[in-house]
Amino acid sequence: MRISRLKLSNIRSISALSFDAAPDINIIHGPNGSGKTSILEGIHLLSIARSFRTHQSRHVITEGQPLTTCFAQIDGPDGGGSLGIERTLQGELRVRYRGEDIDLTTLASLMPLQVIDSDTFNLLDGSPSVRRQFIDWGAFHHTPGFISVWRGFQRALKQRNSLLKRGTIERSLKEVWDREFILHAERLTELRRAYIEALLPHFAEISEQLVREVKTELKFSPGWDTDQSLQQLLDESFERDMRQGFTSVGPQRADLRFKVGNRAAAEHLSRGQKKLVVSALKLAQGQLYAAQRGQPCVYLIDDLPAELDRGHLGTFCEYLKQSGSQCFITCVEPSSMLEVWGTETDGALIQLESGQLTAKQRFGESDE
Ligand SMILES: Nc1ncnc2c1ncn2[C@@H]1O[C@H](COP(=O)(O)OP(=O)(O)OP(=O)(O)O)[C@@H](O)[C@H]1O
Ligand SMILES: [Mg+2]
Repeated sequence: MRISRLKLSNIRSISALSFDAAPDINIIHGPNGSGKTSILEGIHLLSIARSFRTHQSRHVITEGQPLTTCFAQIDGPDGGGSLGIERTLQGELRVRYRGEDIDLTTLASLMPLQVIDSDTFNLLDGSPSVRRQFIDWGAFHHTPGFISVWRGFQRALKQRNSLLKRGTIERSLKEVWDREFILHAERLTELRRAYIEALLPHFAEISEQLVREVKTELKFSPGWDTDQSLQQLLDESFERDMRQGFTSVGPQRADLRFKVGNRAAAEHLSRGQKKLVVSALKLAQGQLYAAQRGQPCVYLIDDLPAELDRGHLGTFCEYLKQSGSQCFITCVEPSSMLEVWGTETDGALIQLESGQLTAKQRFGESDE
């Protein structure tokens, strides 16, 4: 899937903007506050109907305007078509593809994206819920039917927790809900584990390429000690869980652990190395998706050169080029990346100022 044309209106400081996108590398550059990240937000809206910067869509809509609209002409294995999304201040949402309304699950499969921005550091430094979201995104695309398994588990967890909150539970009722919880927990864990096993070789290959000097190992932790049965652990933690009003063992505690040697990677790696490791994780997810589906993800990379020296930036850029993925990359100054890609790369340079497109050119060309 690729975007061939993009048209955005009323998104943050951008009142109206459109351009033809290059099939591989698109560099969006300009001064601070010129609207570079806002363009990535627009593309993200087109993928999952919300921004990656905020959960409240009203912040994305230009102040004083009632709604934002984003359109893309997309080329995909199904022949592609025109995709449009409209979000209003009141929270109403309308998504249309090839002239018909579509739901969010259809949308999510239509235009899979990977975002790499300063929040991506949370994959290493942030709470486990960030890493669970990462696993579940991958497993959703890896295994058809994952979503119903995930929903089944969430339902079982919610029911068990509401039972715990009551303070007293009949033994027979507890047994029924434990059985239900364990059944869904084991199914969900199997799918998550299968996904991470498939992801690991891609992560090892890309992190070796991007950050050769340190080897970061990745391990899936399912949320309980699997040397013991989940039933046994639920029984052992029952009194405490009753006091706290929630279930303390199970897939709701799943996590990914990153290690360099026997040390936690978050404590060991430098800032630039962290950026490369979390990027390798996102790129691995995209690479696995592409290998399975036969079509690459779109990468949105906010401020790619930040924190990276010339050598590491160079290998990152080379990886992106050979991945065959369409990339939208923002930066204040594009010269360091242009040095790597040179004129033989078929890329577009999009220059912004105060929310407006001021120049668009192919790499190595003068202004269009
Ligand atoms: N809801 C809004 N309505 C109007 N303008 C907004 C709104 N939200 C943010 N802005 C403005 O829009 C611009 C957002 O720019 P954006 O974050 O895309 O900049 P950027 O080019 O990525 O900058 P940087 O290089 O600092 O990351 C800022 O100038 C901000 O003040
Ligand atoms: Mg920005």
